[in-house]
Amino acid sequence: MMTIPNRFEQTKIGIAGVGAIGSAVARALIAGIDGFTLDCVSDPALSADLGVLNTDFDTLLHRCDLVIECLPANIVPQLARKAFSTNTDIIFISSAALLIYPQILQELKTSKSHAYIPSGALCGIDGVLAMKEMGINSAKIASTKRPSGFNDAPYIVENEIDLAAITQNTLIFEGNALTAAKGFPANINVAATLSLAGIGADKTRVEIWADPKAAGNMHEITVRSNYSTLTSKIENMPDPANPKSSVLAAQSIVATLRNMSNALVISP
Ligand SMILES: NC(=O)c1ccc[n+]([C@@H]2O[C@H](COP(=O)([O-])OP(=O)(O)OC[C@H]3O[C@@H](n4cnc5c(N)ncnc54)[C@H](O)[C@@H]3O)[C@@H](O)[C@H]2O)c1
Repeated sequence: MMTIPNRFEQTKIGIAGVGAIGSAVARALIAGIDGFTLDCVSDPALSADLGVLNTDFDTLLHRCDLVIECLPANIVPQLARKAFSTNTDIIFISSAALLIYPQILQELKTSKSHAYIPSGALCGIDGVLAMKEMGINSAKIASTKRPSGFNDAPYIVENEIDLAAITQNTLIFEGNALTAAKGFPANINVAATLSLAGIGADKTRVEIWADPKAAGNMHEITVRSNYSTLTSKIENMPDPANPKSSVLAAQSIVATLRNMSNALVISP
């Protein structure tokens, strides 16, 4: 178990899933993040040699103080259960998995693990956290990606939406964050993150737009309390290694690590 890292000691990190996001975080760790050492990774499909052990989840958890989850959503419960049963701290980037598989947050309650959720591809979470202290009245997110950014999403398949036929900015989903996470488990983690930071998955409203002319992945949130109204908008470059993800998501994990070990911490 890690709890708060000691700035003067090395924390051993394991990365589970070394795709677009996991590999960017691995590169940052190898380049150097004060206080952290990449000890090992776990990804059966990894072909690149990162110079560290590539192993199974059990060994990774046995060796590491902190695990960074960068997996497909459906694998997350398996890793989470093992992390919590060994009281290992974990950073989750697949926040949608925490809504789709509610047992993850249930199991966290009886574990000594700390679980961290970085802001990922979103901005404005700092303000949401502070506003929550006063009570949030409403929270909404509108996400826009190119149609291909939603390929293979369960909601698209089930509703037989022809993404190739979309020629203009089109609202393809409207509902709450829980339904959005189930329908778009690999595309709309931002809605899950907003709901976990704010007023929960049932009350957080989500719009998903497919725009063939979208320059990037755009997320706009509007959160209202009695004392503040927050609007924030970010436009991210899709990750060349996985257009469903954004380059910023990996960097939010790197920033989370730096925040854990910095002497000066900028927080909400
Ligand atoms: N929070 C956010 O804002 C945000 C933003 C973008 C992506 N994400 C999420 O982050 C996660 C990772 O995204 P990505 O773009 O790196 O995906 P990716 O598909 O590029 O990488 C996933 C990796 O996991 C590996 N993997 C699959 N099954 C495994 C198993 N059983 N054990 C070990 N490794 C396994 C795959 O081989 C692959 O390398 C996804 O769930 C994605 O939806 C979150």
